[in-house]
This record gives sequence, structure tokens and C-alpha cells, in this order.
Amino acid sequence: MSTPGLIQLDVHLTDADADAALRADVARGLTARPKELPPKWFYDARGSELFEKITELPEYYPFRTERALLTDSVADIARSSGADTVVELGSGSSTKTRLLLDAFAAAGTLRRYVPQDVSESALRGAVDELHRDYPSLALHGVVGDFTRDLDRLPGADPGGKRMIAFLGGTIGNLLPGPRHEFLTHVRGVLAPGEQLLLGTGLATDPAVMVPAYDDAAGITAEFNRNVLYVLNRELGANFEVDAFEHVALWDAANEWIEMRLRASRDMHVRVRALDLDVRFLAGEEMATEISAKFRTEVVDEFVTAAGFEPTRRWIDPDRRFALSLLTAI
Ligand code: SAH
Ligand code: TRP
Repeated sequence: MSTPGLIQLDVHLTDADADAALRADVARGLTARPKELPPKWFYDARGSELFEKITELPEYYPFRTERALLTDSVADIARSSGADTVVELGSGSSTKTRLLLDAFAAAGTLRRYVPQDVSESALRGAVDELHRDYPSLALHGVVGDFTRDLDRLPGADPGGKRMIAFLGGTIGNLLPGPRHEFLTHVRGVLAPGEQLLLGTGLATDPAVMVPAYDDAAGITAEFNRNVLYVLNRELGANFEVDAFEHVALWDAANEWIEMRLRASRDMHVRVRALDLDVRFLAGEEMATEISAKFRTEVVDEFVTAAGFEPTRRWIDPDRRFALSLLTAI
């Protein structure tokens, strides 16, 4: 990173913050019934790499469907938005975002890109590569938790306008309560007229959705189990990672995919840093992630409830994914 002033990286989630949050989440989750682990802990460096591999799987249609929607829509989005700052939450490797950056640059308005992610390794990698490929773009990376650190995102430049992108269907990883809280918070950091570009998975055939979260090559299973390696390393736990099976199922009542880890036999696990002993029974399942899939009416309801007006929407021909441009009112 060679050009001072053009690149800034803020770390709001220090190792100490992350450690305290991880301890609290794990102490609560492993003593809950049923047991659960919050998904943001999937994304250490190995987890972020595994997610990149997921995006290349034949079964994982959300990534390429959203990429196709972006390809079709970015020129319109850039023209109608006029934003000079693109902020992205949960930006990961910022791969698809390049389509947006190119369109905003072509429209002549783009000055700054602000990626935010909980994964410092993914964020640093993305910022380095973007700086190489977009040398005149100001990059302001923020390592942080989008459920907590939104207030610390940089504001609009004087006379400027921001668009926040939240892609990948990541909104579906939040339960309804936290989803509403999150969107209300996003609305609160925007001025009226500023925009949110939201990617949402749509409810479709379970025979299409489930394999996207349970691929034949077992990459998603590795990704799901990765959270146990994180606990072993960060908290001195002794999970036998391979003794847990990946489970992905469609919950039709809640309209979400649910990911779990199932103990293949009775086990005792010790989490040294928490002085915690946990027992797993054979067949016991621990919840790790949901990925909600929506109907467009539901998207309209929850964004309206948070103070956004649906402005434009793009949907693929198979109706598996939607990209919604929303305006803060
Ligand atoms: N936007 C990318 C990546 C989606 S995967 C895409 O569409 O392909 C979800 C991303 O959100 C990961 O990069 C993960 O590190 C990040 N993430 C998950 N929970 C987060 C949180 N609480 N705060 C910030 N980033 C988070
Ligand atoms: N936001 C992604 C999604 O819901 C994250 C994801 C993809 C994921 N595959 C996963 C999370 C498997 C946990 C397990 O599509």
C-alpha cells in the first residue's frame, strides 16, 4: 500500500474486541438449548478462502446470479444514483463490486470506495488488489462488525452522496429481529436521498436451494466445520472437528436454509479459555447459520418498515435472486 492519503484502513474490531465478543458468543451459544454458534466466526482467513471457493461451486447459484443481475443493472444504478462514495458491508473479496465501481467510474461520479468486513485478511487482500487495479480511487477499508460498528463508517463528503451495497444475500443470515435492527441502523446513518443496494436470495425450489448449501465436493461442509477450528485455536477448545457432520435443510415454515453441525457420537468438549465443559450426545445438532430466502413482497415490507422506499428491482429469469435499489426517505 504505497500511496498515503489514498488508502486508509481502520480497524474497529481489534483482536481484543474480537476475543471478548467471541468468548461471550461461545459461552452463551454452547450453553443454550439447542446449542448454537453465531456465523460471523466462520470468517477467519481460512473461512474467507473457503467462502471464495463456495462462490465458484456449480451448486452455489447465488453468486453468479447476483453477478449477472449486477452486470445488467450497474449502468442504470450509477446513472440514477450519482453517488461519489460506494460503501459496502460484508464486502469479502469485493469481486462483484468491481462491476459497480466500473459503472460509477464511467458515470464520472466515483471518488471513494469504503469496504467493511469482519475478516481483516479478506479486507486487506481486497484493498491491495483494488489499489493496483484502480490507482486513482480513494480506498477506505473498515475492519468491523456491521451489526455494531455502522456509526463509525465515514460520512458523506460535503455535497457528496453515498450508496451502501449489501450483497451476497448476507441480509438473509440475520434473524428477523436483528435484520430489522440492522436495516433501521443502516437507514439511520444515511441522509434522505442516499441509497442502499440490497441483494436477497429469493425462495425457490428446495432442490435448487439445498445443494447450494450442501455441495457434492464438500466445500460448504468444510466451511461450516471451520468454526470449530476457530474455537480450538482462539479459545483452546478441543473439538474433534471431523466428528461433526454438516447438515443443511430447508425450513419451509420460516423460509430459510438452516445449517447445523451434528455430533456423530457422544462427546465431551472442553473450552479451556472459558473453563467450560460441554457435552454432545450422538446425533445432537448445533445451529450455525441461517440463510433466509424471501418473496419480493417480504423484502418490500421489511425495507419499508426500516424507512426505505423501493426504487428499482432486478430479478433473474429463474426468480432465484433479487437486487433492490432502495432510497432512504
Ligand atoms: N459480499 C460478498 C461476500 C459475502 S459472504 C459476496 O457477495 O460475495 C459474507 C461476508 O460478510 C464475508 O466476507 C464475511 O466476512 C462478512 N461478515 C459476516 N458477518 C459479518 C459481520 N457481523 N460484520 C461484518 N462483516 C461480516
Ligand atoms: N451469505 C452467504 C449465503 O447465505 C453465506 C454462505 C454461503 C454460507 N454458504 C454458506 C454461510 C454456508 C454458512 C454456510 O448464501
